[in-house]
Formats: sequence, C-alpha cells, structure tokens
Amino acid sequence: MKGQPLIPFAIIAIVGLLLITILSFVGLSEREAREAEENGEGTEEEVVEIDDPITAGEELAQQSCITCHGGDLTGGMGPDISNLEGTYSVEEIQDIILNGYESMPAIPVNEVEADAIAQYLLSDQ
Ligand code: HEC
Repeated sequence: MKGQPLIPFAIIAIVGLLLITILSFVGLSEREAREAEENGEGTEEEVVEIDDPITAGEELAQQSCITCHGGDLTGGMGPDISNLEGTYSVEEIQDIILNGYESMPAIPVNEVEADAIAQYLLSDQ
C-alpha cells in the first residue's frame, strides 16, 4: 500500500493548519484587547477622580518626590519643597511635576495625581 502513509501526514498537516489559524485569531484578539486597553485605560486613568487630594497627594509625594527632595520634603539632592506657599500656585507645581523643571525630570504621574500632589504641598499638612 503506497498511499497509506500519506493519510497520517495529511491529518498532521490539517491539524497544523488549524492550529495556525486558531493561534493567529487568538493573537489578533489579544492584540485588539491590548490596544483597546491602551487607548481606553489611558484616557480613563486621567478622568479618575481623587476624593481626598491631600491624603492621596501625600501618598503620591512619598512615592515620587522623596527620593530627591528628602523624606520630609525639606530638601535632599533637590531643593526644599515643604514650604512652597506664596512661591508657586497649584497649577505651577502641577506643571513642574508633569513637565519637569530645570534639572528636575518630569515625574510619571497623570494630571489628576499631579494636581493632588500640588494641593498637598500647598496645604498645611
Ligand atoms: C529625580 C529627582 C527629582 C524628583 C524625583 C523630583 N524632583 Fe523636584 N526637583 C529636583 C531638582 C534637582 C530640582 C531643582 C531644579 C533646578 O532648579 O534646577 C527640583 C525642583 C522642584 C521644584 C521647584 C522648587 C523651587 O524651589 O523652585 C518643585 C516645586 C518640585 N521640584 C516638586 C517636585 C515634586 C512635587 C516631585 C514629586 C512629584 C518632585 N519634585 C520630584 C529633583 C527631583
């Protein structure tokens, strides 16, 4: 029987083709999901509101600012930012955080978070 061994090969080939088709669909939908996530979540993150900006700002400052401005924000490698009242407005501090300032790099937080940090820095706490 000459043709016999061809049958298993044909089955393997068909299974292989099916797998390739299935995998590429899985890959496509995963990529779509990822893209949707990137587009969707990116904007969603910016609209997220913070109930208590001062408390949230304090936590964020602990995470993002103390490495350079010192544990109590009174200065480290960067200047003292514990007493900015009268020097900067909330908007100006937000701008510094988001875009950097002189030798300070931009900090990877979103607008709402930067606003919360700025409010915290200008609060009495
Ligand atoms: C990588 C180090 C680094 C990090 C992190 C950092 N800063 Fe700075 N920051 C600096 C340096 C350095 C300066 C001084 C810039 C200059 O004048 O050249 C500065 C300056 C500032 C100033 C201006 C101060 C003044 O007296 O004019 C503000 C406000 C400020 N930082 C806020 C923040 C806040 C808020 C965060 C956290 C969200 C933060 N910084 C995180 C390094 C840093």
